[in-house]
Amino acid sequence: MVKCGCECWPQASPSPTYGVSLPDLLMREGVHPETRPVPFTPGWDLIGVVDRLGAGTSGIEPGQIVAALPISGAYAEFVCLPQRELVPVPSGLDAAEAVSLVLNYVTAYQMLHRSAKVRAGQRALIHGAAGGVGSALLQLGRLAGLEMYGTCSSRGASAVSDLGGYPDRLPASRLRERNSPPDERGRRRCL
Ligand SMILES: NC(=O)c1ccc[n+]([C@@H]2O[C@H](COP(=O)([O-])OP(=O)(O)OC[C@H]3O[C@@H](n4cnc5c(N)ncnc54)[C@H](OP(=O)(O)O)[C@@H]3O)[C@@H](O)[C@H]2O)c1
Repeated sequence: MVKCGCECWPQASPSPTYGVSLPDLLMREGVHPETRPVPFTPGWDLIGVVDRLGAGTSGIEPGQIVAALPISGAYAEFVCLPQRELVPVPSGLDAAEAVSLVLNYVTAYQMLHRSAKVRAGQRALIHGAAGGVGSALLQLGRLAGLEMYGTCSSRGASAVSDLGGYPDRLPASRLRERNSPPDERGRRRCL
């Protein structure tokens, strides 16, 4: 159990299902901007079962399945989170499938609708379109009625077209970046 020092929040667990994404790996390598001071428990996102409620908590029940995006701590057996950070998950969904929606799709949704404020009929160019965030952008972009073009390596071309995008090989300049040596902190240029 993760010691949280607080009794007023519900605990999501036991044994939450957590995602393993590129940001997880970047945080483990210590190169992600949101890397926590060590020691820390990794894990950006989770699907868990509410185990216990803090005093005065209402509107949520023990046993309820919830999703959360704590940025760190999701690999723990128990996590302690504020109720406002929990999103109810419909019963009957596969937790491993559902957790794949949390980080990548929240990121993609915000890029499309809060940052770019896309409208149906617009065209979008998505770099890294075969990746986790890229494929989420393709799926959400199709729902938003976009015409989408996605850069990807040739192995990802069928995935991009299956998701409604026009695949394009990465331009030579991007390929050079990909093949570039890591910088002094071990980082390669990516998206
Ligand atoms: N701000 C946020 O909340 C947030 C959340 C999640 C992710 N992110 C960021 O979004 C980016 C993508 O994450 P992801 O989870 O989608 O990663 P991913 O699943 O690993 O996908 C990355 C894609 O980028 C392509 N790629 C990798 N290195 C490249 C390079 N040097 N030049 C050109 N293309 C390259 C790969 O192409 P191929 O498949 O064609 O080889 C891959 O499809 C990362 O920078 C991540 O940190 C931000």
